Amino acid sequence: MTKHFYVNLYHFLVKSYVPVVKKKYGKVRESVKTPTESGTGPAEMGALVATPIIKTVDLSKEYPQAREPLKVLKGINFQVEREEFIAIMGPSGSGKSTLLNMIGALDRPTSGIVYIDGVDLNTLNDNQLAELRNKKIGFVFQFFNLIQRMDAIGNVELTMAISGVPGRQRRERASMLLEMVGLGDRLDHKPSELSGGEQQRVAIARALSNDPAVLLCDEVTGNLDSKTGDDIMHLLRALNKEQGKTFVLITHDPVVAQSTDRLVQLHDGMIVGEKQVW
Ligand SMILES: Nc1ncnc2c1ncn2[C@@H]1O[C@H](COP(=O)(O)OP(=O)(O)OP(=O)(O)O)[C@@H](O)[C@H]1O
Ligand SMILES: [Mg+2]
Repeated sequence: MTKHFYVNLYHFLVKSYVPVVKKKYGKVRESVKTPTESGTGPAEMGALVATPIIKTVDLSKEYPQAREPLKVLKGINFQVEREEFIAIMGPSGSGKSTLLNMIGALDRPTSGIVYIDGVDLNTLNDNQLAELRNKKIGFVFQFFNLIQRMDAIGNVELTMAISGVPGRQRRERASMLLEMVGLGDRLDHKPSELSGGEQQRVAIARALSNDPAVLLCDEVTGNLDSKTGDDIMHLLRALNKEQGKTFVLITHDPVVAQSTDRLVQLHDGMIVGEKQVW
């Protein structure tokens, strides 16, 4: 078997297989032109299936202070497979949100690497980073972060408007997403006219608007009563199971953590334990 055979086979598989799988599942890694973790060529054949959706290597984050820098993340190595649903737990100040911000390309690390879908984020400029974030990642936060003067549908449309989706198309998609999260009859309600659980559903619909592969959730049930929190967790699980979305969820709640696939424990900027839940 010659090298040419493998090269041709690789090109054949990429050309014929990727578009079909993309059409069917809509979430196979795109043929990015930026440097990838696994390089190019036949070696990538395996990567097409095996590349973790998220991987960090020796990830560190420091904030400057008067004397010595504050070390918030101290060499984090972990990865998340496609369609996994994981929880990150740890004491307040242990670096959970900082880690989520690095994974979500909201902030850059001091050293180390974050790979999203095989792409080394250090190789991207700010515009490319914003584009990757827009296409691949959805965020949901504890306090919903909705725009108060906009109604539910306007809030969900916003990210699509930023990505240049035409008006009618984004209205239809926003309405479909709100319907999907159970708010079909609340499209024109402003956040102040919605309950906490409903506001979080709007935030989830907004996070789904660009059909991201990954959803990063920071204490999304933290501001809700336990029944409403339960409902939100069921919704997230359904999105994971039925649409194959990958979830990284920060939580203080052991009951929430127990409902995920895997639990990663953070302490003082380091991973101190991992536990398979399912
Ligand atoms: N922009 C910043 N500048 C300086 N220090 C920061 C900054 N952001 C976070 N920190 C510090 O980094 C540490 C980790 O913060 P982080 O928000 O990641 O904690 P956390 O684990 O999410 O905590 P919590 O459970 O309370 O949300 C904290 O001590 C915080 O004060
Ligand atoms: Mg936090």
